[in-house]
Amino acid sequence: NKDINILGIETSCDETSAAVLRNGRDLLSHIISSQIKTHQKYGGVVPEVASREHILHLQSVVEEALQGAKMEFGDLAGIAVTYGPGLVGSLLVGVAGAKAMAYAAGIPLLGINHLEGHIYANFLHDPELKFPLLALLVSGGHSHLVHFEGHGKYQVLGHTRDDAAGEALDKVARTLGLGYPGGPYIQKAALEGDPHAYEFPRAMLEPGSLDFSFSGVKSAVLNTLNSARMKGETVNVADVAASFQEAIVDVLVRKTLLALEKTKAPTLVLAGGVAANTSLRKRLTEATQKRGVAFSYPPPVLCTDNGAMIAAAGYYRYLAKDYAPWNLNAIPGLNL
Ligand code: KG4
Ligand code: ZN
Repeated sequence: NKDINILGIETSCDETSAAVLRNGRDLLSHIISSQIKTHQKYGGVVPEVASREHILHLQSVVEEALQGAKMEFGDLAGIAVTYGPGLVGSLLVGVAGAKAMAYAAGIPLLGINHLEGHIYANFLHDPELKFPLLALLVSGGHSHLVHFEGHGKYQVLGHTRDDAAGEALDKVARTLGLGYPGGPYIQKAALEGDPHAYEFPRAMLEPGSLDFSFSGVKSAVLNTLNSARMKGETVNVADVAASFQEAIVDVLVRKTLLALEKTKAPTLVLAGGVAANTSLRKRLTEATQKRGVAFSYPPPVLCTDNGAMIAAAGYYRYLAKDYAPWNLNAIPGLNL
């Protein structure tokens, strides 16, 4: 009978984003105001600047999202907001804003874990997605393998012990002078390079482990660059980028296949900013085809931070009547 419209709000890092999602499947509007240009000159996100930018933009981003959906607050069933993990100042802007809007509209507030949000981006482009499923979540701050048995029912099988995949990509890109955020620049540079020009290490850890470690490969690349610099040699940036990307993708693919073997999960999904990587998508497409595993991933815009994925996670929270309390707080270190 009545449509369930959820407004999703995301402000955990450097994007101010809001989206209106109808019945968990129709994305009626999606606004992303990116601060990348502002932070680019510092080579990374400056937290204090990020929270100020969120304060400046949140209200207009939400208004634009509502206008795009031809709605008013009264048409919404609930408001979903990221409350962690992320930068505390940035999270607080979204949480305080969402609370005020939901309270004034007399509708439920839905508190969303940003990492769950990333995974739920998969339900936006495929609402028929079936459990059980395995998710490879790879972002700027996290690298997780998660086994889902149902909505909100999951088990973390492995996670990174040091750097996240995206973090390693960003740091190497910065040293190569490629730009921020590094992932897309590494991917672009790698297109012109030889992925076997350098043999960078692949940390597999103990046999059977589903954990990751990317600080070793990052250091190996940085050492290669430093020693070339000291010898006055020039490196082929494209070859370094291609070999480094290959090393990261190799480990992600091998660990994901091991997790598929262990769980016998019939479906694999990708999530997080690094899930936009074309090499990772291609390698996993081939590997899952060979094994008869269903594989899907969101379009790039739904891989990086966005409000639509928060609305998607919020929709299932709303169905479960799992509302957030009015004293919901930001939790910067929230995990899965
Ligand atoms: O999920 P996300 O937008 O923010 C976090 O929650 O961290 O992920 C950002 C990360 C950055 O490290 C960025 O370099 C990486 O995702 N990234 C990529 C690509 N696009 C973004 N990494 C590899 N290939 C890409 N095409
Ligand atoms: Zn994210």
